[in-house]
Amino acid sequence: MFELIAVITGYILKATWLMLPAYIANPTAVVFGGGTPIDFGKNWKDGRRIFGDGKTFRGLIGGTICGIIIGLIQMQAPPQFSLGAFTLSAVVALSFGALLGDLVKSFFKRRLGLARGAKFPLVDQLDFVAGAWILVYIVDPKWFIDNFSFWIIITVIIFTPILHRLTNMLGFYIKLKKEPW
Ligand code: CTP
Ligand code: MG
Repeated sequence: MFELIAVITGYILKATWLMLPAYIANPTAVVFGGGTPIDFGKNWKDGRRIFGDGKTFRGLIGGTICGIIIGLIQMQAPPQFSLGAFTLSAVVALSFGALLGDLVKSFFKRRLGLARGAKFPLVDQLDFVAGAWILVYIVDPKWFIDNFSFWIIITVIIFTPILHRLTNMLGFYIKLKKEPW
């Protein structure tokens, strides 16, 4: 039992370390968000917004920069404290990919007729993971394959929605977010 807990804890720590640029990019987009929406307020053919007011340039750029800063700090970590070495392309792809995934998610939410901020269970929690992984796989497939073993991938998929929910409840509580999800 104790061994199992130790192994799971190890996986969670490593998964968090590897995903940290993406985990930082997502909530800092909320902090820096506001201003001009990425779709400039324009509608799609169906008469609904392309992305909606919840996706802004400030959020996209601010979140990406914060994710990259964290990744650059992680790259300076001494090897004995590091749970995995980053490449610069991996750091950029994890940060930007996370918010690209979130943006693509909003596009599909609008096509489904869901209003900005409407709940989209699991998709709202894993959109940025999918975006980060796809972009990082495109720009640095070797880094992804070397670091994301099967069990790390499983850990991220299970752990992220829990972490996301807790972060958003905190964001709602401190009045940064309009909804607790
Ligand atoms: N945000 C932003 N720009 C981004 C991502 C997020 O400005 N690229 C900010 C917006 O203020 C947004 C908030 O962060 O309202 C919460 O993000 P999220 O939950 O992803 O957006 P929602 O408002 O829920 O919109 P959607 O229904 O499109 O997911
Ligand atoms: Mg939302």
